[in-house]
Amino acid sequence: MPLSIVILAAGQGVRMRSSLPKVLQPLAEKPLLGHVLDTAAAVGADDICVVYGHGGDEVRARFTGARFTNSGLRWARQAEQLGTGHAVMQAMPGLAEGHRVLVLFADVPLLTAATIARLTSETPPDHMAVLTVELDDPTGYGRIVRERGYVRRNVEHQDANAAQRGIREVNTGVMLCPGDRLKHWLARLSNDNAQGEYYLTDVIAMAAADGVSIHGIKAASPDEVMGINDRMQLAQAERALQRRRVEALLRAGVTLADPARVDIRGDLRCGTDVFIDVDTVFEGSVTLGDNVRVEAHNLIRDCALGAGTVVHNHCHLEAANTGPDCELGPFARLRPGAVLAGGVKVGNFVEIKNSQIGDGSKVNHLSYVGDAELGSGVNVGAGTITCNYDGANKHKTVVGDGAFIGSGVEIVAPLTIGERATIGAGSTLTAPAPDGRLTLERGKQVTVEDWERPRKS
Ligand code: UD1
Ligand code: CA
Repeated sequence: MPLSIVILAAGQGVRMRSSLPKVLQPLAEKPLLGHVLDTAAAVGADDICVVYGHGGDEVRARFTGARFTNSGLRWARQAEQLGTGHAVMQAMPGLAEGHRVLVLFADVPLLTAATIARLTSETPPDHMAVLTVELDDPTGYGRIVRERGYVRRNVEHQDANAAQRGIREVNTGVMLCPGDRLKHWLARLSNDNAQGEYYLTDVIAMAAADGVSIHGIKAASPDEVMGINDRMQLAQAERALQRRRVEALLRAGVTLADPARVDIRGDLRCGTDVFIDVDTVFEGSVTLGDNVRVEAHNLIRDCALGAGTVVHNHCHLEAANTGPDCELGPFARLRPGAVLAGGVKVGNFVEIKNSQIGDGSKVNHLSYVGDAELGSGVNVGAGTITCNYDGANKHKTVVGDGAFIGSGVEIVAPLTIGERATIGAGSTLTAPAPDGRLTLERGKQVTVEDWERPRKS
């Protein structure tokens, strides 16, 4: 039976105290709703409908162009937030017949595709399933009322009596129903309850009354079904997600000096025998080859580092690639478009932007290399700068294989330095330097013989 997933995302999230709609708050750099959409796509939904309300246009705009199903996303607007049941009703008009409907909450971002797969595979298509969890402190949640072990209904905290409040099995909000029956149940909801809302959870009792089997399936851990209402919970979810990610890395054979002190905000793929020391933040999509060693305190965003590369302390690497056995830092900055071949060394206080650096070349100290193409075996001395920007346009520097550039050289681009050329220290180059020769530009040094230091009068 085809599967439609309805994601409830209309709530305002007042307790976030933010001008950003709650479902756009970032968890590991991705909006909460993005996590739920990715999970929905991972279980292979045939149709996904997002019920939105607060911050509507901003929420929709954030996901235009992204693909989660073959048919794209459906959006249903819930103008007024009259409850979770009312929210699901908004998604019903566009629902194809004969689908199963799975309801997810946009503010429950850590639910895994594996748990959803358990729900859909353990529940026959004409049955219903509710994902539940046992909590030590169930305050605020809907309580699952069972009779002889069978789920009969849900009672919201505000409507529960003292005995019901003692129940520790609670509703996570995740529910799976035959779509055609759900439509009928929703049409019969009332808002005659403590909160004056149309509760989605009331369909559980309706299903029981109609003789539909209800599977109360328990989530493996409370982390997975935790809802985000405030910044405290957002921070807890961030930690839980980070824990999940580092555990996956450890199982995959990565060594982490301290699993609690590394943050993987995007996607991190590692080869074998990778070592990661404390306090590095990985963002976007990062690939580390075999035997890569990342020392403490780095930021690495959207990079691919070749096998055996070492990142010493305090580097900032963004949208850069290295070949094998490179050595970066300490205190190196690779900016977008830095492409290093094999065995390249980029040392302290060096910035490289939009440049190719050939095999075995070294830029070891205090240099800026921008819009350049360096051959292999090039040595760039300390404090060398490509003057690539004339205030309006960027210009290119080309350096041939085996060139040796002395310290403190300014290369006023566009300019070419030949193969095996040697450039004298302190030169300001404004014209090409030929292959194999020494080129230098230098004022004559003078010593003023009868000069005296001024004295304080
Ligand atoms: C809901 C459940 C409760 C469960 C808890 C789990 C109901 C009636 N109660 O309670 O049993 O234990 O989640 O976290 O379903 N939303 C809309 N439109 C609305 C109302 C809500 O889109 O009109 C969305 C919210 O944005 C949120 C989700 O639905 O993503 C849950 O709403 P919320 O008000 O947080 O429900 P709870 O009171 O927490
Ligand atoms: Ca909630």
